[in-house]
Amino acid sequence: MRELLQLFPELHTWIQTFDLEQTRKLRQSFERIPFQEWRALKVLSQTAFKKQSLSIKRWTPPACFMLRDRQTQSTLWQQAESRGVQHLRQGKVAALTVAGGSGTRLGFPGPKGLVPITPLKRKTLFQVFAEKLRAIERLHGVRMHWFIMTSADTHEATYEAFQTNHWYDAKYVHLFRQGVLPAFTMEGICLLTNEPSVNYCPDGHGGVFKALASTGCLNKMLAYGIETLSYFQVDNPLVCIGDCNFLGLHLNRMSDFSTKVVAKTNADEKVGVFVDKGDALQLMEYSEIPEHLSVKKTEDGQLYFKLGNTAMHLIQRSFLEAMAKEKLPIHITHKSMQYWHPLLQSHCTASCQKLEYFIFDALPFAKNPLLFEIDRKEEFSPVKNAQGQDSLDTCMRDQISRWHRWFVNCGLNVDLGDKEINSTYRLEISPLFADDYISFKKMWHALVIKPSCFESLYLE
Ligand code: UTP
Repeated sequence: MRELLQLFPELHTWIQTFDLEQTRKLRQSFERIPFQEWRALKVLSQTAFKKQSLSIKRWTPPACFMLRDRQTQSTLWQQAESRGVQHLRQGKVAALTVAGGSGTRLGFPGPKGLVPITPLKRKTLFQVFAEKLRAIERLHGVRMHWFIMTSADTHEATYEAFQTNHWYDAKYVHLFRQGVLPAFTMEGICLLTNEPSVNYCPDGHGGVFKALASTGCLNKMLAYGIETLSYFQVDNPLVCIGDCNFLGLHLNRMSDFSTKVVAKTNADEKVGVFVDKGDALQLMEYSEIPEHLSVKKTEDGQLYFKLGNTAMHLIQRSFLEAMAKEKLPIHITHKSMQYWHPLLQSHCTASCQKLEYFIFDALPFAKNPLLFEIDRKEEFSPVKNAQGQDSLDTCMRDQISRWHRWFVNCGLNVDLGDKEINSTYRLEISPLFADDYISFKKMWHALVIKPSCFESLYLE
């Protein structure tokens, strides 16, 4: 305790308000992390405001398999697809979702996976993903295991929802909990709960490596013969989980870690961008890239660093295993958090420093990482904010526009009258009917009785 008191002098005054039992509890909660690590974390929390000096001289835009390459390299593209299909059918692919985040910006009272996301049936994100997996199982005659990372904040509610909803008919679901890291005030004071204990928070999506190892999930994957994980965040209902072209290109390249990217719409868009640092590919978070680089343009007016991260990856199990043994850097994000103030004897809410591991810090360790451009309209519309960009409204609008486009591309006259496509328009296509345009076209043409009215149409 003496060492702790030296490191956190504020504890002196706090402890005076605690009885012996409370002091014991608090000490015990500190012991969850070795003392040397506390020392490092404290230093980090106090130096976070200092700008890092980055050696940016050799940074260039990285190579990427672009949308136009699908036509110009069509043989490669088709070969990739058959390799991907084969891998999937051999049961070597599973889904991996990170769903432990606190979703502060959205402000939904519960895990984000339980947000009703579809416009007509109000299916939750978890249900949509489960249907996508069932569709893959049906199409390829294979078991799709689904690993879902939760946190202390989301685990119980997630488990309960899955149980109540009969696991959304997904048969091979594995929930596992991520680890924790402490949080600090802006002045570097450790946050507490009123137990009293350290106010531990989920350790970021980069905590997935250690969590998969410590919960035995990596061993399970090995036992099931899973070699490749289709990783995605819990907030994007447009994710294409069994993308065989992407899978085939990833395998052909013998990549450890591949990523789907979208062209950034403007310099202010809040997505990380990929840079080639000369010796490694790296993702720079939008909050961390120097401003003059994020606004830099090419001669033809395009953003110089324009490949934005969608956080949809293919990751080899062997790489997950290797990364579980590595130490990733810790990032500091600023979030509004509630904590217990022992002197005021009440809860306070303030902007605090949250410590997190980021999954993309594994990238420099990866062999042959592949970047793969996708059409944002078809695959990427995350729910991050309560309003404005990347909100529930924009996500519903994007789902409907996508389905509407499929009808139009099939030559159907889907007249909207004077209506615009927005979140109030009612149309929904379950992934069990089709989850991309090509399968939609097939399914639509096979329908014996075709609906003639599109308002409130639901296809499954
Ligand atoms: P976000 O960066 O959107 O963070 O997470 P968040 O915590 O969910 O939301 P805000 O920033 O507080 O508004 C991206 C993905 O990573 C997962 C989230 O669940 C989401 O799928 N995540 C994030 C975790 O699984 N664990 C974490 O500790 C953080």
